[in-house]
Amino acid sequence: MIIQPRMRGFICLTAHPDGAAQNVREQIDYVTSNGNIDGPKKVLVIGASTGFGLASRITAAFGSGAATIGVFFEKEPSEGKTASPGWYNTAAFEKFAHEKGLYAKSINGDAFSDEIKQQTIDLIKKDLGQVDQIIYSLASPVRLHPKTGILHRSALKPIGQTYTNKTVDFHTGKVSEVSIAPAEQEDIDNTVVVMGGEDWEMWIDALQAAGVLAEGVTTIAYSYIGPEVTEAVYRKGTIGRAKDNLEASAFTITDKLKPLNGKGYVSVNKALVTQASSAIPVIPLYISLLFKVMKDAGTHEGTIEQIDRLYRERLYTGGEVPVDEKGRIRIDDYEMDPAIQAKVAELWQKADTETLPELGDLKGYSHEFHKLFGFEMGGVDYDKEANEMVAIESIK
Ligand code: NAI
Ligand code: NA
Repeated sequence: MIIQPRMRGFICLTAHPDGAAQNVREQIDYVTSNGNIDGPKKVLVIGASTGFGLASRITAAFGSGAATIGVFFEKEPSEGKTASPGWYNTAAFEKFAHEKGLYAKSINGDAFSDEIKQQTIDLIKKDLGQVDQIIYSLASPVRLHPKTGILHRSALKPIGQTYTNKTVDFHTGKVSEVSIAPAEQEDIDNTVVVMGGEDWEMWIDALQAAGVLAEGVTTIAYSYIGPEVTEAVYRKGTIGRAKDNLEASAFTITDKLKPLNGKGYVSVNKALVTQASSAIPVIPLYISLLFKVMKDAGTHEGTIEQIDRLYRERLYTGGEVPVDEKGRIRIDDYEMDPAIQAKVAELWQKADTETLPELGDLKGYSHEFHKLFGFEMGGVDYDKEANEMVAIESIK
């Protein structure tokens, strides 16, 4: 079928298999061009199909020669209906990995469930014996709690008072004011259940109890801090409470892993265009200004540049892993540079529908968003028939 983007609100209903493959290819080429990493050899990536998780899987496999198992929740294709982008990304990733002789298998299902954890453990036992790194990169709006059967929904709300600020609809470029009413206690609790550290800890407990963690194992989850303008809705809002909880879990996990000399880390990453971040009000306007300022300064990075730097300059330098006063790895350092932030804050005041195309990188935002779904990739002819029925080699 001929596959074009079909937008509905903040999501795109279609994805392009060849564009997704091209996107994965470019990420692989980036990592490969930077040379080898003396890193992990057997890696489990939870949330492996898009965003930071995909970039982690690519970096571990193509930088460090790692065997990888990827867990994710994606929609498979059916005749005349495309898969979700992470499906096509993974199909391409596995194909490229297998061509290079790298082990790569994938599990598609709900990572929050006991069943998928057990399936993963069985696969590790059968094929790898143990893993020496676990990347935890889930971003989900809901979690069906495996012990209580309750479906929790996260919220993106401020805490204490209504938050009013500017936002942009990046499809139309229209800047408008948005007001978000404060969270109820229930919203806070639910968001912590969905995006906090409990499930990460459950994964580590299950893997450890099954004896599939190697001596010296490391596990890394991703967090975000960001600027003052988004603080009320992000770091000091419901999602921020979940991130506080996730960051605390890194210490709990490090304690649990003491017998193996293992360690749990949180890495604070840069704000990037992903499916998850596009759904948060105010963030797209911030990102479009940030990208402009960082591109002008020559410090802009995408997901693969971020994770490549995480491995090369933080985790596997041969020395101590540098962390901040709260024990977190920081690869948001270029974003949080005071000069960058001062410039963004200045532009924030001036940004409106008329000025934003000039002040911000709205085009770049929209381009990155299309790329998430395999669109606007160079070297792909979108008027040509594409085969939507692409299989992931390890999933039959
Ligand atoms: P994403 O939406 O690109 O990736 C989410 C991944 O989780 C996908 O592989 C998806 O299939 C998987 N997933 C979702 N629900 C699942 C479920 N129930 N079972 C199995 N897999 C499931 O998200 P992104 O942006 O890469 O986020 C990953 C982490 O990075 C999150 O913790 C996020 O808060 C954090 N982060 C994101 C930033 C951003 O700007 N996008 C900035 C800093 C941190
Ligand atoms: Na991810």
